[in-house]
Amino acid sequence: MAVIMDGRALARSYKERIAAQTAVMSHPPALAVILVGNDPASRTYVTNKEKDCAECGIISKEYALSVDTKEEDLLSLLEKLNRQPEIDGVLVQLPLPAGISEDKVIAAINPSKDVDAFHPYNVGLIATGNPQFLPCTPAGILALLDAYSIEIAGKHCVMVGRSNIVGKPMSLLLLGRNGTITICHSQTPDLPHITRMADILVTAVGRRDLITGSMVKEGAVVVDVAMNRDENGKFCGDVLFDEVMPKTSFITPVPGGVGPMTRIMLLENTLTAARLHGKA
Ligand code: GUN
Repeated sequence: MAVIMDGRALARSYKERIAAQTAVMSHPPALAVILVGNDPASRTYVTNKEKDCAECGIISKEYALSVDTKEEDLLSLLEKLNRQPEIDGVLVQLPLPAGISEDKVIAAINPSKDVDAFHPYNVGLIATGNPQFLPCTPAGILALLDAYSIEIAGKHCVMVGRSNIVGKPMSLLLLGRNGTITICHSQTPDLPHITRMADILVTAVGRRDLITGSMVKEGAVVVDVAMNRDENGKFCGDVLFDEVMPKTSFITPVPGGVGPMTRIMLLENTLTAARLHGKA
């Protein structure tokens, strides 16, 4: 019988621990959140992040910029925030409007305030196995696997998706835990052949019903990162849950699996950043 991994419950226990830690700090951690434009999904993500901060004793400062903001104006805001000692973390919500280079913007964040762990310096530290910040979604997934005592070492881990936010850093972290990693993407021929080999299958594509029952090995662990909507407007992942769940040993639901843990790891990173900056 499959165990459905409860990201909401685990997130609650992390939240309590983070709140207890910030409560005894003389200077609370502070996060600057930058939202450019009016993408409704991004607006929701940013509001959730601010709510999480408030619940955990972390100060959040929102910078909502108009959709026609110039790249140079965003870069000078980042320069200002990089220099402010009271700001510990700087997060620029992605995607950015056309005409602003995400690469340039990410590279302009002070790596010691890069709570998303997207800056090339932090990506390099992750790749060499000595990270100062862990990327939020992959770190949340590792925390879930650990909470359910799921062994990674020696397991064949198949990552479906190769984004900079999830697929690539997830693969590096699983490799760091001594998994054997296969990364699949849109040009991978015969995806089912590879997913069927997975002891641990992580999918982050954004296409509902991509992973069907016949694509999963009996007893596999399945982690679904995606947030799609079904025909009734309800959230669903990449996994055809009712078909896949009975074959698995552990599986994450959507919603209530990876999502809450991703949110927690931003708080963890903001606390780490505050400590890096000498706050206690
Ligand atoms: N857009 C989608 N996911 C993320 C994330 O983890 N961080 C930021 N900054 N933007 C995102």
